Amino acid sequence: MERDPKRDGGAGAAPTLAILGAGKMGENLIRGWLAAETVDPARVLVTAGHQRRSRHLAESLEVEAVVGNREAAARADIVLLCVKPQMAEVVLAQISDQLHEDQLLISVLASVTTGYIERRLQRRVPVVRVMPNTPSRVREGMSAVCGGQWAQEEHLERAEQLFAPLGRVLRIEEKHFDAVTGLSASGPAFLYVVIEALAEGGVKVGLPRAVATELAAQSCLGAARMVLETGSHPALLKDEVTTPAGCTVDGILRLEEGGLRVTLIKAIVEAQARASQLVQE
Ligand SMILES: NC(=O)c1ccc[n+]([C@@H]2O[C@H](COP(=O)([O-])OP(=O)(O)OC[C@H]3O[C@@H](n4cnc5c(N)ncnc54)[C@H](OP(=O)(O)O)[C@@H]3O)[C@@H](O)[C@H]2O)c1
Repeated sequence: MERDPKRDGGAGAAPTLAILGAGKMGENLIRGWLAAETVDPARVLVTAGHQRRSRHLAESLEVEAVVGNREAAARADIVLLCVKPQMAEVVLAQISDQLHEDQLLISVLASVTTGYIERRLQRRVPVVRVMPNTPSRVREGMSAVCGGQWAQEEHLERAEQLFAPLGRVLRIEEKHFDAVTGLSASGPAFLYVVIEALAEGGVKVGLPRAVATELAAQSCLGAARMVLETGSHPALLKDEVTTPAGCTVDGILRLEEGGLRVTLIKAIVEAQARASQLVQE
């Protein structure tokens, strides 16, 4: 396979990034990188199942729509696999002979292990697995990173550098990736339900909906930052708010009565269990 030196990251050039399957997650990642100004849209190639989708992204984000996964993969320095887990086998078969060891394949697929990808590629391509989440779009994402058998430290660092502008990045052993998927990839959906319900409570006690939603969302954001920035245990931070015989303790009593804790724990366990099954379908 002939490589184009202008496009393959040689001599200070920005890397070309091919996003194979630029759906919801792919678009969120691109928007995060564009907001951070860490990728050049002219060097982002996108593919999708339907050309209408890739053309729409090309028009709205000024990236390049490419018709085939093979062409996109061949032109990229970093190939970002973003299709559904069930499509992994088909897309890997399409691109395997286009890849070489100087490229980096990053997969954000739930359920699909680096071993699965390597067995299908049958060649020595460095594979890094990243599990991001949708808040990457506003650069408050959480990404877990691990490497396959051919990924060296430089490849892991390259992936970490790519995802760091989108939020936090943690290197985590691959055996925990289904758990990460259940917690931080699915987690934003669980928290949107919490925010929606808190806002509904605000509406119930007379607040306009937009005000209630802003109060609920900013309270979640603030509480999250308190946990991350003070390093205090969430229970201690909760105790700071809960004055004796005050109003908060009455609310907490209701949460306990409704089984909020057990429900959230079970939500993570269920999502983790499901995450391990997706690729088998
Ligand atoms: N969504 C999340 O919060 C999240 C978080 C972490 C990881 N992930 C992972 O990200 C991946 C994508 O999830 P998603 O939510 O973004 O799903 P999605 O919106 O359905 O995106 C999948 C994209 O793949 C495209 N596609 C289908 N067949 C293709 C093919 N043969 N070649 C190229 N593209 C093809 C689809 O195109 P069309 O739109 O034209 O059909 C679609 O745009 C999944 O593996 C998931 O596990 C998602």
